[in-house]
Amino acid sequence: METAAPETAISEIAWTHVGSIDDIPVLGSRVVRTAQGDIALFRTAADEIFALEDSCPHKNGPLSQGIVHGRRVTCPLHGWVIELATGEAVAPDEGRTGHVPVRVEGRGVSLALGEAKLSRGGCRKACGHV
Ligand code: FES
Repeated sequence: METAAPETAISEIAWTHVGSIDDIPVLGSRVVRTAQGDIALFRTAADEIFALEDSCPHKNGPLSQGIVHGRRVTCPLHGWVIELATGEAVAPDEGRTGHVPVRVEGRGVSLALGEAKLSRGGCRKACGHV
């Protein structure tokens, strides 16, 4: 019998402040270097902020240099389209890059690096993106 992993309450999550929303260009990105690797922060036209590993699931292209459109980014190398909320490649392509929970308070942006759904880890669904 399978038992579900306990969910982490939002109040228990360790958030790491990584700057201001104003540090991220609209329809662009900014890279944050972390112990888990480079994380790309993306800002949509609606000022939503998402964080993904800066590595395309195809051949590790730098997603931070891609084109943001809607809630997706197109990889600059071969044009795969990646969902910013989940890191999933849009069909017909298949694959996923890591996703990090984001919190925006006022203009401040924080990441829950310990809750990240990185390519080598499991997500605990700490944010509302998935
Ligand atoms: S490395 Fe991103 S589409 Fe090929």
